[in-house]
Amino acid sequence: MNKTIIKDQLNRPLRDLRISVIDRCNFRCQYCMPAEIFGPDFAFLPKSELMTYEEIERLAKIFVSLGVEKIRLTGGEPLLRKDISVLVEKLSQIDGLSDIGLTTNGVLLPQHAKSLREAGLKRVNVSLDSLNDQLFGEINGRNIGTKPVLDGIDAAIKAGLGVKINMVVKKGLNDSEILPMAEYCKNEGLQLRYIEYMDVGATNGWRMDDVVTKKEIYHILKNKYELEPVDPDYFGEVAKRYRYKGTDTDVGFITSVSESFCSSCTRSRLSANGQLFTCLFNGNGHDIRDFMRSGVTDEEIIKRITDIWNHRNDRYSDERTAETNKNRKKIEMSYIGG
Ligand code: GTP
Ligand code: 5AD
Ligand code: SF4
Ligand code: SF4
Repeated sequence: MNKTIIKDQLNRPLRDLRISVIDRCNFRCQYCMPAEIFGPDFAFLPKSELMTYEEIERLAKIFVSLGVEKIRLTGGEPLLRKDISVLVEKLSQIDGLSDIGLTTNGVLLPQHAKSLREAGLKRVNVSLDSLNDQLFGEINGRNIGTKPVLDGIDAAIKAGLGVKINMVVKKGLNDSEILPMAEYCKNEGLQLRYIEYMDVGATNGWRMDDVVTKKEIYHILKNKYELEPVDPDYFGEVAKRYRYKGTDTDVGFITSVSESFCSSCTRSRLSANGQLFTCLFNGNGHDIRDFMRSGVTDEEIIKRITDIWNHRNDRYSDERTAETNKNRKKIEMSYIGG
């Protein structure tokens, strides 16, 4: 495959692919997978529906030929997928792929960090919304305290993985944890990203009033720390970053509600059952898995993906409050992996 020629078929860059490897999770976070809805009878995907590692590898190579430089493995909880390191090893051998990441709740990292690192993974993003055990237990809907996650973070660091921490901030729930989390991450030299609570899916009961904006969080931090802005690492980076003056530690904000970033969006998402989504908020997936299983060539798959991407006009976060968005079919965060 001649990579440059193939890339030129796209009318805007596609650099970042997020692949969900499983839709299940061992948490039931209120803002993502509320326990009342994702109860014991909830029908998650059966194993036969999941793309195999060979299928994911084939698609990953195709996406890289289209210009993808970065792949992030997500879930649900990606460490629940059997032998996840085997997939990481396959992906880390793909020429032209410069970054592989994984987003996890961290509790299975003590078991997996070493083998993931050996398989070629460089970094993990760990979700942690509070350092208070009781509050964290309420948020994750499973009464799981912070220790298993903190142990997971330690295991990742010991294994040589880079670690970033994601904290979703919801008004009246965990805004009291903004400073304790900053202090913990600063002391540990970990990059913390505050994420504005988003209206993904249809189950989390999102209201605009629940959002704590970047501006509000920044003011809280500014009262305690001296911060200086940091340039983006790459075009389309979602986090806006600052550095604690006099240190090497950054803190970031993911401002998808208050300052949307659709115009620089280079991301697409593959669900665990092989549907391609061109936006986190666009519920219309495009089947790739069954098309691939029908025996088509790589070129035919490239043509299909190119057609989908070239017809994309998503800018949901830019238009969040517009009337056209009100009745839009949405996809659950736990299914698409964030
Ligand atoms: P890095 O590669 O470390 O920069 O990771 P990342 O920020 O791309 O990934 P992560 O899975 O940690 O995502 C952090 C948050 O950003 C999640 O809440 C995502 O849903 C959100 N996010 C990532 N990409 C997009 C996007 O394209 N649109 C919107 N609205 N939110 C996004
Ligand atoms: N709004 C913002 N971020 C969310 N995440 C899950 N649900 C939401 C939501 N409603 C975060 C997770 C994880 C990342 C992939 O997305 O905490 O860190
Ligand atoms: Fe699981 Fe992550 Fe969703 Fe929490 S945010 S329920 S850890 S997938
Ligand atoms: Fe991209 Fe959709 Fe997020 Fe906008 S809302 S940045 S188009 S994924």
